[in-house]
Amino acid sequence: MGLLATRRILLGLGGGIAAYKAPELVRRLRDAGAEVRVVMSAAAARFVSKLSLEVVSGFPVGDDLWSTDDARIVHTDLARDSDLVILAPATADLIGKIRHGLADDLLTTTVMAAKTPVLVCPAMNTEMLDNPLVQDNIAHLRSLARYTFLEPGVGLLACGITGPGRQPDPPEIIEAAAAVLADKDLRGLAAIVSAGPTREPIDPVRFIGNHSTGTMGFAIARALAARGATVTLVAGPVSLRTPVGVARRVDVETADEMLAALTELWPSTDFLAMTAAVADYRPAQRSQEKIKKTDASGDSAMPPTLALARTPDILKTLAARPDRSRVMLLGFAAETHDVIDYAKAKLVDKDLDAILANRVGVPESGFGPGDNIGTLVFRDGTFVEFARAPKELFADALVAALAPRLTHLARRSAHA
Ligand code: CTP
Repeated sequence: MGLLATRRILLGLGGGIAAYKAPELVRRLRDAGAEVRVVMSAAAARFVSKLSLEVVSGFPVGDDLWSTDDARIVHTDLARDSDLVILAPATADLIGKIRHGLADDLLTTTVMAAKTPVLVCPAMNTEMLDNPLVQDNIAHLRSLARYTFLEPGVGLLACGITGPGRQPDPPEIIEAAAAVLADKDLRGLAAIVSAGPTREPIDPVRFIGNHSTGTMGFAIARALAARGATVTLVAGPVSLRTPVGVARRVDVETADEMLAALTELWPSTDFLAMTAAVADYRPAQRSQEKIKKTDASGDSAMPPTLALARTPDILKTLAARPDRSRVMLLGFAAETHDVIDYAKAKLVDKDLDAILANRVGVPESGFGPGDNIGTLVFRDGTFVEFARAPKELFADALVAALAPRLTHLARRSAHA
C-alpha cells in the first residue's frame, strides 16, 4: 500500500503524445493503493491502446460518449464514484474546453459532472504552453479552488525541442495527487526539514561521510507540504528529487554550511525537523591539493594520520538561541542499541521538544529506501510507537502524530 491507499481515481487522457505513458501511470497509481478508472478522448486513443489500459486498470475504459457497449461507463456514474480526477496529459485543447465549460465527449462531460478535485498535468509542446491563450486558461483554472496544477517538467519533447511541457513522471503525479487529497491543517506553518548526510572534505577528492541517503527527511518534507505547511528543505549531498509541494530547497555540503543555512532560516521558522545525519567530526586540516601516496621524491609516503576536529552540534547551537521557545525542535536518534534510553538522553541534552528514536543496523529499518520503524518521544514523556512501514507512509504517520502540536503553531503564526 502507498500514498493513495483506498482512493478512487479517475484518470482522464487528453490527446497528446504523453498519453503513451498512461499504462505505466495506471500501474503506478495502483501500486500506490488507488483504484483507477480511465476515460480518454478520441484523440488520446490514437496514441495509446484502450486494451492496454483495460488490462492494467482492470476496468473497462471509456472513449465514446455514445457507446452503449458497457453500461458502467456512464459519465455521471464515473464522476460520482471517484475521489479525484487526474488529467494527464492535459492538452491545450482539454484545458481550453474545461475552462470554457465545453463538454462534447465522454472525458469533458465526466469532468464537468464531477464534483471532486481535479489535478491537471499539462503536457504539450513548449510553444503551445507559452501561448497566451493557453496561459490565460491555466491562470483562470488555477484561480478556482477545484483545480490544482502540476508544473510540467523540462526536457526533450516529442517535437524535438528541449523546454517545459514534459509530463512529470508517475512518482510526482502520485505525490501531487496525495497532496490534493490531504487535509490542509498545517497551512500557515513555516517548517524546515534537514536531510541527508554532511560531507567533511579531507582534500579535493575525499571526504568523511555516512550512509544517510536523505530518504526519510525528504519524505517528511513531502508529508508536511502535503498538509499545507510551507517547507524549506535543507539537504546535504543526496541524489533525490525535491518532493512535490516543497517551497524551497537549500543544498549544503558540510555541517558548518548546514548550521549557517539553518541559522539564516531560523527567524522565520515555527518547526524544525532535524533529520540530517550530521557528521560529528571533520578533518582538522583540509588539504587544498590531493594527498598523494608518494612524497616529493617519488618514494612511497607514510600512510597519513588524519587529525579530527568536532563539528558544531547544530541542534544544541540552535536550542541555545534566546528565542528558542518559539520553535518546536524535533531531533532524530539513530542508534544501534538501547535506542529509547539514548534517545531520551539526547532529548534532554539537546533541549528538544520531541525525538524520533530509530534503530539502524538492522534489516527492517535504517538508511536508504525501504522501511522504517521507531518511537516518537515527547518532552512530557508521552510517546507514540510506529509500526514498520515504507518511509513515505512512516512520514505521513509521523506528521499525523505531530499535527495536534503543529496546528497550534500554525494558528499562532497565522495570527502573528
Ligand atoms: N545533530 C546535530 N548536530 C550534530 C550531530 C547531530 O544537530 N553535529 C542532530 C541530528 O540531526 C539528530 C540529533 O542531533 O537530529 C541526534 O543525532 P545523533 O547522530 O543520533 O547523535 P549525536 O548527537 O551525534 O550523538 P552520537 O553520535 O554520540 O550518538
